[in-house]
Amino acid sequence: MFNLESFDIKLNTDYIGRNFIYTEEIDSTNSFLLDKENKYNSDGTIILAEKQIKGRGRKDRVWYSAKGLNLTFSILLTSKKIFTNKLNLINFATSLSIAVAFENLFQLKPELKWPNDVLINGKKVSGILLESTSKGSKIDRLVIGIGINVNQVMFQGVYAIPPTSLKAELSENIEREKLLAEFLNTFEEIVEKIKTNPDEILKDWKTRCRLIGEKILIEDGEKTKYGIFDDLDKDGFLLLNVKGKIEKIHLGDVSPV
Ligand code: BTN
Repeated sequence: MFNLESFDIKLNTDYIGRNFIYTEEIDSTNSFLLDKENKYNSDGTIILAEKQIKGRGRKDRVWYSAKGLNLTFSILLTSKKIFTNKLNLINFATSLSIAVAFENLFQLKPELKWPNDVLINGKKVSGILLESTSKGSKIDRLVIGIGINVNQVMFQGVYAIPPTSLKAELSENIEREKLLAEFLNTFEEIVEKIKTNPDEILKDWKTRCRLIGEKILIEDGEKTKYGIFDDLDKDGFLLLNVKGKIEKIHLGDVSPV
């Protein structure tokens, strides 16, 4: 059971998480916040669910998460806080904030995998799914869906990257309330930098990405590409060196070769 009171005491944000919905069960927290009929419109609204029946991952994958053990939640950003021309940076700000929260609380050294996975010891501990709705040509709701494996230690099923959790890595039970508050406090700070100092987000993200400079394989459906992970461009797209020529990659799953 998630203790709302102990979470609230630790939350230091201005607007992120100030409107907080807690539910036992839902189809998907992302679907809920994307739905304009739900009546929740304020910037920074969060829904946290103990269980999702249809938790979604990137590329139509399923996000499996055992009931009551992890953190599966979504954050709503409405027009005022959406930096439409910098959407990609929200991905980086989110995964960076998760890594920083882990470092602050557990002295872990998480690794960031392009575009937005968080790994510990080469295994995936967290994933992010950004989705939006538009009014005309303008995005009016941006939903950042986040799954963090916290206290689950048994994983069944087929995974693109082997899963792990904080408990599996640290051999101790983790207080979800403290972790969520630490992440949200960090996220609110980092996401503001999209306006003031976007280069710093990318710089901090890159210092935690071990594959830069390495030979990689990028898979996007049927398409595969080999090359050297050269760098990220200013918008966060991957620059791949293929036989001396730089190609910009927008989508795909990256793995070392
Ligand atoms: C991925 O790595 O494929 C992204 C996983 C995102 C999962 C989270 S859990 C909360 C939110 N609601 C969903 O249906 N998906 C995201």
